[in-house]
Amino acid sequence: MSTSFERLRAREAASLMHTYGRLPVAFASGDGVWLVDVDGRRYIDALSGLAVTALGHAHPAVADAVAAQARRLVHTSNLYFTEPQIMLAERLAWTLGWSDARAFFCNSGAEANEAALKLARLHGKRRHPDAVGVVALSGSFHGRTLGALAATGDPAKHRPFEPLGTWVTHVPYDDAAALDAAVDDRTCAVLVEVVQGEGGVRTVPTDVLRAARDACDRVGALLIVDEVQTGLGRLGSWYGWQTALDGAPLVVDVVCLAKALANGLPIGAIVARAEAAKVFEPGDHATTFGGGPVVCAAALAVLDVIEREGLVARAASLGQRLAAGIDDLGTAHPAVTGRRGRGLLQAVTLATPQAPAIAGVALQAGLIVNAVAPDAIRFAPPLVVTDDQIDQIVTRLDAALTAVALEPNP
Ligand SMILES: Cc1ncc(COP(=O)(O)O)c(C=O)c1O
Repeated sequence: MSTSFERLRAREAASLMHTYGRLPVAFASGDGVWLVDVDGRRYIDALSGLAVTALGHAHPAVADAVAAQARRLVHTSNLYFTEPQIMLAERLAWTLGWSDARAFFCNSGAEANEAALKLARLHGKRRHPDAVGVVALSGSFHGRTLGALAATGDPAKHRPFEPLGTWVTHVPYDDAAALDAAVDDRTCAVLVEVVQGEGGVRTVPTDVLRAARDACDRVGALLIVDEVQTGLGRLGSWYGWQTALDGAPLVVDVVCLAKALANGLPIGAIVARAEAAKVFEPGDHATTFGGGPVVCAAALAVLDVIEREGLVARAASLGQRLAAGIDDLGTAHPAVTGRRGRGLLQAVTLATPQAPAIAGVALQAGLIVNAVAPDAIRFAPPLVVTDDQIDQIVTRLDAALTAVALEPNP
């Protein structure tokens, strides 16, 4: 380990709260799919942060939009109108294909889910004063703030912070009947991801998604889709809901976005349609920084590039190339049992809990992937990745799998 890295590590330990179990690398710069560490070593980033930098690192269109807007106007508060925020809401509505959409901007994925949950509560209370219940799925991840944490389907993340209330009911992510049974007239929303990213890149079965829609219609609840990780092209469609039912769309009421929207600058958004779009009134919800001109200018640049370069269709075809590469790894390595996910959000599944070891070896060899579960390695490369870079990613993982297989058993 280099001395410059070791010095940074010591300073980090002394100055920052220990919320992150960081890997032993400090990055100094990036360019497209490449990251460069403080010692000048280059890494191919097959993770995009955590599914964030969809246009790759240091994209010139985003950098130019940020610089130009920062010179013009950074902040006014939401007491006033600013055009970039309005333009971004209009552009998102266009990507969603919703003529009756309205957006609310915040600063992260967790905040987007908080906003959606608050909106659903107000919507539910119009029907029944106790209609504040939310049904969510086991294995889901919706963020770390208290409301989003309560909705997250991971008891281990709940435990240290309990009590989190009784307003969320979790049902198994693959049990349509349990979901249907959990929704009643006290339910204001069902919250789903179409592919559970942090939950191990697990596709939620179509019968569960159909049951969610039907149950919401039965009681008048909102179907909220958390597309913080899957939205904006990553699955090979603008949004996962558009192709969630075996290629056909799942009708949803509210979409939550964040991660890729401004290519790494902090932004979150919810977009709702029809009557759900009109629930919030002045004073119901707000944030100081949400929808600020700089992040909105960055997000508009992101949407321009995605559209101009056809990156949504590209994610679909690159995803097929990645899937074929992973399938070849399955043929070559007994440790590989299969593949999950679609588009440019996929995971290699393993027979044993060796994902952290394999991801660690890959990192040393200049490939960034992550152990999304003890037995699953996630890929979420930028949408601008080339065919050749997809092949390099597979080749480097192949080498890491071989290296770990050759290691003596502890
Ligand atoms: C599906 C989903 N929702 C919400 C979040 C939370 O987003 P943030 O970390 O920006 O609060 C994440 C983060 O990984 C996510 O994957």
